[in-house]
Amino acid sequence: MLDEIARIQENAKNEIGSAGTLDRLEELRIEFLGRKGALTLILRGLKDLPEAERKKMGEEANRLRRKIEELLQEKELELRKTTSESILKKERLDVTRPGIKTERGHLHPITQVIREVNLIFVSMGFEIVEGPEIETEYYNFDALNIPENHPARDMWDTFWLLRNQKEAPSTKSQASKKSQKLLLRTHTSPVQIRYMEKHNPPIRIIAPGRCYRYEATDASHDIQFYQLEGLMVDKIISIANFKAVMREFLTRFFKTKIEIRLRPSYFPFTEPSFEVDISCITCSQKGCSVCKKSGWLELAGAGMVHPNVFKTVGYTTKDVQGFAFGMGIDRLAMMKYKIPDIRLFHSGDLRFLKQF
Ligand code: DAH
Repeated sequence: MLDEIARIQENAKNEIGSAGTLDRLEELRIEFLGRKGALTLILRGLKDLPEAERKKMGEEANRLRRKIEELLQEKELELRKTTSESILKKERLDVTRPGIKTERGHLHPITQVIREVNLIFVSMGFEIVEGPEIETEYYNFDALNIPENHPARDMWDTFWLLRNQKEAPSTKSQASKKSQKLLLRTHTSPVQIRYMEKHNPPIRIIAPGRCYRYEATDASHDIQFYQLEGLMVDKIISIANFKAVMREFLTRFFKTKIEIRLRPSYFPFTEPSFEVDISCITCSQKGCSVCKKSGWLELAGAGMVHPNVFKTVGYTTKDVQGFAFGMGIDRLAMMKYKIPDIRLFHSGDLRFLKQF
């Protein structure tokens, strides 16, 4: 039995000595001292021994118990020390380290441009108004002097929204003669009508907003884009006023002197109508790929408001005149930031967006 005790002690010494974790140490405690442990079995066997031997063995066994307890305790202390040291090493907090930078979002480049444009026009006394993106056929076309079957409608082919047929007759035979057929607006010009219906001249408004057209997309066309509508109406407003407002706006927006060229054009809601070209800011009119070597870039449609439009909103035409324009906001942003493809605006590509 003495051999057995010596063997257990040797064993305990080795096992406890090589325990690497506190969990393992607990396992060993149970193995050696637990109810079914080796030492317990010896203590239990004592009662079968002759008296003299029992006493001696009892002493030895108890000595072994104390020894094992001692070993366990020592090892526990050692393990606790090294683990807390390693935790400290791992979790050391360097308060002098720079913090983790939180990324801040920012406004979309189009939104930034709209805000800048708004500020410039507001400083010139214009009011900012808005209209619905889902528009009726009446406001998008008829009231703008573009009747059904007018060839000009081809230019504004768009997305029609189907509704209950009873609710939305496609013909204008109903009492009001205002077609309620719905579509995604093709331009911001309907806002002119909505505003003039409710206000009398003098009028100075701009209406920025999103428009939609059913078209094949390419680098300069998207099915959704932004326009800036402008309208100035009073007793004597002329094309000279228009040119002055445009030149002032463009010079402030591009922060450089801009030349304007008006080319005769056609829009049903203006007479005369023209296209507004601006001097190419990329090459200062020396000729480059952006302006296709012409030195000019097309920026807006414009004209003097057609008398039929004034009649439609109930103005007495001999008392009022004014100009209107529709400018491509995406175009403005593309020119300002030299963006080669309009589709980038809605691509959701963060590499693009993060540059603004
Ligand atoms: N609405 C026209 C378009 O989308 C642009 C336009 C032209 C607007 C002439 C105007 C205007 O207000 O007078 O092509």
